[in-house]
Amino acid sequence: MQLDVFTLIPHAFAWLTEQRPVAAVLGDELDLRLFSYRDSTPLAGSQVDDEPYGGGAGMVLRVDVVAAALDAAYGGPPEHRVVALTPQGRQLTQAVVEELAAEERLTLLSARFEGFDERVLAHLASDSISIGPYVLSNGDLPAMVLLDAIARRLPGALSEGSGEVESFSDELSGGLEYPHYTRPAEFRGWHVPDVLLSGDHARIEGWRKEHVR
Ligand SMILES: C[S@@+](CC[C@H](N)C(=O)[O-])C[C@H]1O[C@@H](n2cnc3c(N)ncnc32)[C@H](O)[C@@H]1O
Repeated sequence: MQLDVFTLIPHAFAWLTEQRPVAAVLGDELDLRLFSYRDSTPLAGSQVDDEPYGGGAGMVLRVDVVAAALDAAYGGPPEHRVVALTPQGRQLTQAVVEELAAEERLTLLSARFEGFDERVLAHLASDSISIGPYVLSNGDLPAMVLLDAIARRLPGALSEGSGEVESFSDELSGGLEYPHYTRPAEFRGWHVPDVLLSGDHARIEGWRKEHVR
């Protein structure tokens, strides 16, 4: 997958690209490109934002700036999906992650300040996604949430089998994963369920099915 992120802070992504699972697929299943709106802005002084028409607090990311960034990267309007990150977008779920992870090319647009000029959403983006019903200071954390969630669905991101039976997966009928325990078997009087120590795989399987939430 080629995943392009347009942002004002490309270096914010450095940490994530060094961590698994993103690091495991980078340069192989994942071609990640980070673009700064400031590198292609047609405005003087690296300007990217402006005051809102009608007045009010905050600055708005300009439509001509976003268009120039897309033109510089693609030579015109891209034919693949362009997802704007906004609190007003479709709520992110595992089903949306699976849908995005199946794309060959994907562009994420991050904003800050008061957000995008509405014409970005109407004419330059193909859809909008929110990572939850709360407001963050910019779209970079949402873009990183998507990047991580998508990366772990790409081949080679996870060790064999660990990405199949997970919360929200078909294997668990969309439910939440059963509880996990590891050593010690008893700690401060808190015991691991006996069945998990039994070595009886059928009973363990049954217990896990019962405890899908
Ligand atoms: C401070 S927020 C803008 C909030 C906007 N004025 C509002 O009231 O809905 C700046 C940017 O952060 C990003 N952002 C903030 N919260 C988000 C969320 N829950 N999901 C996706 N993006 C978000 C978006 O790119 C947004 O344009």
